[in-house]
Amino acid sequence: MTRPSFRFPDGFHWGAATSAYQIEGSPLADGAGPSIWQRFAHTPGMMSNGDNGDVACDHYRRYKDDVQLMKALGLHGYRFSINWARVLPEGTGRVNAKGLDFYSRLVDELLENGIAPNVTLFHWDLPAALDDRGGWLNRDSAHWFAAYAEVMFKSLDDRVPRWATLNEPWVVTDGGYLHGALAPGHRNRYEAPIAAHNLMRASGAGIQAYRAHGKHEIGVVFNIEPKYPHSDSAEDLAATRRAHAYMNQQFADPALLGSYPPELKEIFGDAWPDFPADDFKLTRQKVDFVGINYYTRAVVKHDPHAYPLKAVPVRQPNQTYTETGWEVFEQGLTDTLVGFRDRYGDIPLFVTENGSAFYDPPVAENGVVDDPLRTNYLRKHLKAVHKAIEAGVNLKGYYAWSLMDNLEWSLGFSKRFGLYHVDFATQQRTPKATAKLYAQVIQSNGSVLDDA
Ligand code: BGC
Repeated sequence: MTRPSFRFPDGFHWGAATSAYQIEGSPLADGAGPSIWQRFAHTPGMMSNGDNGDVACDHYRRYKDDVQLMKALGLHGYRFSINWARVLPEGTGRVNAKGLDFYSRLVDELLENGIAPNVTLFHWDLPAALDDRGGWLNRDSAHWFAAYAEVMFKSLDDRVPRWATLNEPWVVTDGGYLHGALAPGHRNRYEAPIAAHNLMRASGAGIQAYRAHGKHEIGVVFNIEPKYPHSDSAEDLAATRRAHAYMNQQFADPALLGSYPPELKEIFGDAWPDFPADDFKLTRQKVDFVGINYYTRAVVKHDPHAYPLKAVPVRQPNQTYTETGWEVFEQGLTDTLVGFRDRYGDIPLFVTENGSAFYDPPVAENGVVDDPLRTNYLRKHLKAVHKAIEAGVNLKGYYAWSLMDNLEWSLGFSKRFGLYHVDFATQQRTPKATAKLYAQVIQSNGSVLDDA
């Protein structure tokens, strides 16, 4: 019998992902401290439509039902994040037992249903009390983070097989410190590289803490958006290199190579500090895996007026774009995985997020949400993942973003990425057609894609 062409390797790990502020709701319940997202969302003008995470998917209270949604899909793993300020309301010091207990109960519920927890320690919601002390601009942030991580390892590592320090540090610094579209809303070229550097020091300190207190696996999650030149001109090629260094290498290089790419100095100019050489001993730690979040690519063109990269993305004719304005380009996922392996070596990789926002019709009377564009995106990207495995990439698993529609940060509830549709007025969850395809993919370990 010939092996079906899209069958994945035995033991391939299938999951779905979410993050705390995007789904939990009840941000201040049971003694939790406020996070920077709680503050940002309650600052007028920062969020589309005045949305906020006060209720979101009400997962804090409905987590048991949500685990049943995962079980219905047949998920092997669930990737979620901890709201740091639930556990440490002031960010450091005093532990809030009730906050910790929520995550402990969630982990137990997952395990009872045969789903492996994959815990991200930081998915953007820094405790507000730490922001008051300078947040990621303060070099002490690495120690704050490691102390918080230690609390989590000590209480959950007996049951959590896989941890990540940070989710997408690039987004934190680009959105939070350079352009101000995300919390904490700063617009400062001098701050962005410092915040970036301290995030990677924190990740390194968190991994060190894990080596002392943990027994399973720890890694870090990067968003990678491959850059392709608009033309072969020297200017466009240089612009493409800058865009790639800024978004894709600024974080992975200090973590995995112990250095920064030279383009960063060119981009930031006098705002680029001379970081102490010793810091790279902290940033560069052995990781057990790297998580890669992939959504789209950019085709890059030189533009002397574009801040700070002197580069702009060029919209591609005849291509499908999602509701967040991202080109559907599945070859970019294959290129990303192969390119990552080629630069950083044979580290076990996971796709820790991949998904798309498209307009969804209201739930039909027969209970169906037909989402053909999202289904098509999933199908194409899974085939692209398979292609990377065939090219020899050591890819261990794939997590769809997202388990359910949720708060898309400052875009509020307007962008739907879920496998499950959420009616935010009633909290009713309904599987979309994409969820049905994904369940079949999991059940057949990819073989269903042969005919799709
Ligand atoms: C983030 C998610 C976000 C998704 C879609 C990633 O950047 O990790 O929190 O919802 O992309 O924008």
